[in-house]
Amino acid sequence: MGYKVAVAGATGNVGREMLNVLDERGFPADEVVALASRRSLGTEVSFGDRVLKVKTLDNYDFSDTDICLMSAGGAVSKEFSPEIARAGCVVIDNSSAWRYDSDVPLIVPEVNADAITGFTKRNIIANPNCSTAQLVVALKPLHDRARIKRIVVATYQSVSGAGKDAMDELFTQTRAVFVSDPVEPKKFPKRIAFNVIPQVDVFMEDGYTREEWKMVAETKKILDKNIKLTATCVRVPVFVSHSEAVNVEFEQPISAEEARDILREAPGCLVVDNPAEGAYVTPYEAAGEDATYISRIREDATVENGLSMWIVADNLRKGAALNAVQIAELLHERGLIRQAALA
Ligand SMILES: NC(=O)c1ccc[n+]([C@@H]2O[C@H](COP(=O)([O-])OP(=O)(O)OC[C@H]3O[C@@H](n4cnc5c(N)ncnc54)[C@H](OP(=O)(O)O)[C@@H]3O)[C@@H](O)[C@H]2O)c1
Repeated sequence: MGYKVAVAGATGNVGREMLNVLDERGFPADEVVALASRRSLGTEVSFGDRVLKVKTLDNYDFSDTDICLMSAGGAVSKEFSPEIARAGCVVIDNSSAWRYDSDVPLIVPEVNADAITGFTKRNIIANPNCSTAQLVVALKPLHDRARIKRIVVATYQSVSGAGKDAMDELFTQTRAVFVSDPVEPKKFPKRIAFNVIPQVDVFMEDGYTREEWKMVAETKKILDKNIKLTATCVRVPVFVSHSEAVNVEFEQPISAEEARDILREAPGCLVVDNPAEGAYVTPYEAAGEDATYISRIREDATVENGLSMWIVADNLRKGAALNAVQIAELLHERGLIRQAALA
């Protein structure tokens, strides 16, 4: 018998992708329920070749639901997830609400699948930030081989990472520029059309943004608490997929060729790295794909044991929906779903 799965935030960028991924991967669900705010009551979303009518999250009874893929923002998750979890339904949350709670595992299945066992304390599992997910997928196999000391990363993050309204803003501003209408920033702090913005999320007291802080804290929690990381997160006028220029300093020597060989065998990774032939990946090419792409791997002669590389992934898939469904698959494979409901 299959599971009953709810997708909360089903009308959003990530929620719609969750429905696609659940269907594509044939997750063993007997019933899938689409939930969103009262604004969306009765609207329709696609689930494979079926159409689901959206119900409201705030009066939904979760007592016979096995898994809730939650993608409705941090405030909504803070309010609803504990109650849903108490009803016996495992919450896999996409927001930052629970990621730093020591009783909530933060999981990227290719990297730290075994950490999932602690989830029964709260019945909540957190999905990382999209920029962190693709970074740790690519760096874990290299860390296992040569121990990472320090990472310097600059992100080039697409507007879909900020939700469906942010995608509309890029479209509307781009059109406004062409027809000489005034350009009004709403979702982003500055104009995004034909521009880049060195601010993702809010600024903190130390001058870093919260997105940059998230990359530090989440890389430590998922990969290794001893890794030092410094990030500059930048929003770019791209609809889907985040790119990252990454410089890594290792404890032990590792050549670019060896790194390529390791990553060619690594789960979730695809090496496309022959720049002379135009073989490197751009965000447009990664959109709609499941893999984390690694290109332009090269040795950095300015530090001992240094490598630089370019990492690209679809932020709505590996950065959010795919990773969440992989976590659900992990729970299923390990027989942990109904066991949690009975605990
Ligand atoms: N986009 C990414 O790359 C990415 C990556 C990782 C994590 N995340 C996280 O995933 C979450 C969703 O992101 P998104 O990009 O999908 O945002 P989005 O496109 O703006 O969609 C937000 C979704 O949340 C629903 N929602 C809002 N308020 C609600 C409420 N009070 N009750 C029930 N549902 C409510 C919306 O429903 P209505 O349509 O009814 O308003 C919509 O379905 C956020 O926490 C985000 O930080 C996003």
